[in-house]
Amino acid sequence: MKALMVSGDSLLHAEVAAQGSARMPGLQLVASRTGVRDAVERPLQEPPELAIVDASDLPAQEAELLERLCKLYPAATFLLLTREPQQELLIHAMRAGIRDVLPLPLVHSAFHEALSRIETAAGRGQLRNGKVVAFISCKGGSGATFLSTNFAYALAALADKKVLLIDLHGQFGDATLYVSDQNPSMTLSDICAQISRMDAAFLDSCLVHVASNFGVLAAADDPQHTVDMKPEHMDTILRIARQHYDYIVLDVGRQIDAISLRALDQSDTIHPVLQLALPDIRDGRRLLDIFRSLGYSAERIRLIVNRYEKGGKLRLVDLEQALGADVMHTVPNDYLSATDSVNQGIPVLQLSRSSAVARSLGELVELVTARRAPESKGLFDRLFGRHENE
Ligand SMILES: Nc1ncnc2c1ncn2[C@@H]1O[C@H](COP(=O)(O)OP(=O)(O)OP(=O)(O)O)[C@@H](O)[C@H]1O
Ligand SMILES: [Mg+2]
Repeated sequence: MKALMVSGDSLLHAEVAAQGSARMPGLQLVASRTGVRDAVERPLQEPPELAIVDASDLPAQEAELLERLCKLYPAATFLLLTREPQQELLIHAMRAGIRDVLPLPLVHSAFHEALSRIETAAGRGQLRNGKVVAFISCKGGSGATFLSTNFAYALAALADKKVLLIDLHGQFGDATLYVSDQNPSMTLSDICAQISRMDAAFLDSCLVHVASNFGVLAAADDPQHTVDMKPEHMDTILRIARQHYDYIVLDVGRQIDAISLRALDQSDTIHPVLQLALPDIRDGRRLLDIFRSLGYSAERIRLIVNRYEKGGKLRLVDLEQALGADVMHTVPNDYLSATDSVNQGIPVLQLSRSSAVARSLGELVELVTARRAPESKGLFDRLFGRHENE
């Protein structure tokens, strides 16, 4: 959205520019004026879509200048900022048809909420219809958190998608730390506690922003269970998230509870992560049995074998036979790159771009974003739904 910024305060200008450019799609400050009088006296040739007007220094006797400014740009939306909301000013603002007034200093969440409202009203709020992709470890330590966080980062970095990762570990969730050194100030349980406030701006304000198009919602941090987290909360969060993100990646952890079950129910695809070892296969079988009993179709379940090394005693086909499901992708064992990345909290793609594991994540991004799912099963199997009946 193209905006005119009217303010004599260069710090506020920089703050609005920074907050605006972090939005998707970004808010561009295409012109600036030092005050309302300056804006009226030097109109823009091309009218802005939005005018952000800091009226803090506007003398009460000049408040009618606001109405003149609004008349200059009848198609634009106006967002008024003011340090001390004086009655005279507010009356003129209302008369001029200005609906959005925010106090200064700027509260970022309120600013984003106002912009989201304005974008939606202007038909600019681009709704995305995002996909939900879940990762779940078949056995503790299989690598679901490492893969989900690094895959989510790779989706944002390589495929230029807008991505949200939600850490659904009931306890001790640490997905944020795999890709960032920031401490989350808000978590999943905080959102559930304030679910009535839930909208795109509130969700965004609760994230750890790893990149401009990648945010992480940290796991619930509520060991005393003071927040009554309900599956319906997950419905609300995913509904809003789908509207504003291209992909929502879930790190489900190992324990399935009522919340993560609801999230799995709504996932477009589920990636059980396991290693090529008998205990993983045993637990994998149990997990796939649960999914079958829940009525999840075989098409939605896409196995990922992590820390794969060729030439072992167990082969991929043995695993596929034991589980009655195809392996979608293998990620090689790459101890050094994975450990460095996890220890430093830097995505492996950023830290060791040419490593085997980073390349493998790139392939996974291609597989997931490809328009058609890989045709791994033959026509016969698809027609007769072999996996569903087993
Ligand atoms: N492809 C890989 N190559 C080498 N090491 C890996 C690989 N993937 C993951 N690891 C290592 O395995 C460790 C455990 O991974 P991770 O924490 O992702 O497992 P998890 O499935 O999320 O475990 P939990 O069940 O505890 O949630 C990580 O510290 C990481 O360094
Ligand atoms: Mg984990």
